[in-house]
Amino acid sequence: MAMVLLAVGVAVSLASCGGGSDGGGKVAVEGAAAQRGQALAWSSGCSGCHSEDGTYSSGPTWQGIIGTQVKLKGGGTVLVDDDYLRRSITEPTAQVVDGYWPVMPAVALSEPQIEDLLAYLHALSPDAPATTSAPTSGIPSTAVIPSTTSVP
Ligand code: HEC
Repeated sequence: MAMVLLAVGVAVSLASCGGGSDGGGKVAVEGAAAQRGQALAWSSGCSGCHSEDGTYSSGPTWQGIIGTQVKLKGGGTVLVDDDYLRRSITEPTAQVVDGYWPVMPAVALSEPQIEDLLAYLHALSPDAPATTSAPTSGIPSTAVIPSTTSVP
C-alpha cells in the first residue's frame, strides 16, 4: 500500500502591505501573487510598453500571451511558456519578437518578483493550459491533450 501524500497549498504567506496605487485602466486579476506582479509591472515601467488588454503598444500585449506561438526576429517560432517568458524578462534581447524593436531594458528583478510577474502573466491568459507546476485552480475546459499515440 502506498501512502499518498497530498501536498496541499504551499501557503505563500509573504506579508505584503498591498503596495501600489490602483489607478484606472487595469485588468482585474485574481490571486495575491498575480496582484503583486501587476503592481510590479506598473511600478517598474513594464506596463508602459505592454498592455493587459490587447492594446497596441511598443511591446507585445500580454493579453492571452501564454500558449501562443511567437515569431522571432531572424526566423523560427517559439511557444510562449514560463521558460520563454522568464528568458524574455531576464535577457530581453536573447529572443526578440519579430516586428518589434529590441528596446526592452533589462530590469533587475529578484526571483520572487519574477515569480509574481509570471503569476500575473498567467492571470492575463485565463484560457491557457498551465505551464508550471504551480497549483492551478482547475483544468481549463479548453485544454488540448496532444495525442500522438499511435495504436498498433
Ligand atoms: C521600453 C519598452 C519596454 C519596457 C519598459 C519593457 N518591455 Fe518587455 N518588451 C518590449 C518589446 C519591444 C518586446 C518585443 C521585442 C523583444 O522580444 O525584445 C518585449 C518583449 C517582452 C516579453 C516577451 C513577449 C512576447 O510576446 O514574446 C516579455 C514577457 C516582456 N517583454 C516582459 C517585460 C517585463 C516584465 C517588463 C518590466 C520589468 C518589460 N517587459 C518592460 C518592450 C518593453
